[in-house]
Amino acid sequence: MTDPKLDWRSAPAGPLHGEVRVPGDKSISHRAIMFAALADGVSRISGFLEGEDTRATARAFAQMRVRIETPTASERIVHGVGIDGLKAPLNGAAIDCGNAGPGMRLLTGLLAGQRFDTTLIGDESLSRRPMRRVIDPLTQMGAKITAHEGGLPPLRVSGNCTLHAIDYTLPVASAQVKSAVLLAGLYAQGETRVTEPHPTRDYTERMLRAFGYPIEFSEGQARLSGGQRLRATNVVVPADFSSAAFFLVAASVVPGSKLVLRDVGMNPRRTGLLHALRLMGADITQTNRREAGGEAIADLIVRHAPLRGVDVPVELVPDMIDEFPVLFVAAAAANGTTRVTGAAELRVKESDRIAVMAKGLRALGIGVDETPDGAVIHGGKLGGGEVDSAGDHRCAMSFCIAGLIAQAPIRILDCANVATSFPGFVELANGCGFELR
Ligand code: S3P
Repeated sequence: MTDPKLDWRSAPAGPLHGEVRVPGDKSISHRAIMFAALADGVSRISGFLEGEDTRATARAFAQMRVRIETPTASERIVHGVGIDGLKAPLNGAAIDCGNAGPGMRLLTGLLAGQRFDTTLIGDESLSRRPMRRVIDPLTQMGAKITAHEGGLPPLRVSGNCTLHAIDYTLPVASAQVKSAVLLAGLYAQGETRVTEPHPTRDYTERMLRAFGYPIEFSEGQARLSGGQRLRATNVVVPADFSSAAFFLVAASVVPGSKLVLRDVGMNPRRTGLLHALRLMGADITQTNRREAGGEAIADLIVRHAPLRGVDVPVELVPDMIDEFPVLFVAAAAANGTTRVTGAAELRVKESDRIAVMAKGLRALGIGVDETPDGAVIHGGKLGGGEVDSAGDHRCAMSFCIAGLIAQAPIRILDCANVATSFPGFVELANGCGFELR
């Protein structure tokens, strides 16, 4: 359990200098544990994110009797039990997914195909997040899932259901929903197909292939047939672009800064913020582009540059869906007006990110007009003051960036959940020039 009362203070500072290696990718770490657990044989995961979300996923599989060793921090050795080898948690204990939407949604798909019943619970924030988006297609496949009123967690997933493949077109672009359907598809009779309204991160597809599972996929489409097996393999997890994003914006907005970000995952479905920041005038270059564990990675060099307001191209939204809190801060620091549209999904993330960021930036003296699917942010001078992150890790870290360029310190309420995705953020940030307490 995190401490909801942890408040931070971010004071004006800079310039920022140094080399930063942010922790491992959250989405890839969740999936690496899941697929390694279902594989035949022993897999080694290196660069695993030691965050609360991904550790909760590892604990879930330990509850289902998968042996997982931690030889060193950020490493896991997973003794796979095979596609049909998971066992019911002892004494019918619930599986606690903590703060993690991907943990709960992907597990729901996977558990729909097991021979035992499970209950999935989460923290206060996760307990408010919509689960109908996975319950509906999984029910069409023959799963039996009951939820709390309004389709909210806890979820009770029944075992011993006969699943059949479906051809599913997602109503919203969501990698979590796509992945839940594909994971149930591993246990379904026939060929499961998913089509997305806009392509989203394809880690599930790529990693299933890396684990030897036959799957066909292209932008926005994937199909697989049930009844095959996964083969153990080693997974190298790149640094999380979404964690690097805070430093990209920080160095862009603080005069005189230059930061080097090492080994950053550059999957095109994750790096929309790079395009948006460049449109705004940011000075970010890529070097040392290479492949690690089947994913493109690179080092990013970011230097301070004056930013200007832009209309964020709506087609970039799914590729930067986790980066809007920090984009809002870049927009607040920019000259002119930034418009975000087509991003209604932000309202159902760990918090209502449009509302939380708009309220916080307004408290610091920035003009922000909220719309149902985005916001209009009028760049200006950031003052000091108090803001509430609403327990949302990405909002908390984004307000830390605002503090760097504010005219007085900012007190940020409810920051404990930063540990869900970015353990060690304060130390890493202070190491390159932040004034974070
Ligand atoms: C994730 C997908 C995204 C993202 C989340 C992680 C994943 O959610 O916001 O942080 O690992 O598949 P949606 O699929 O709901 O857009």
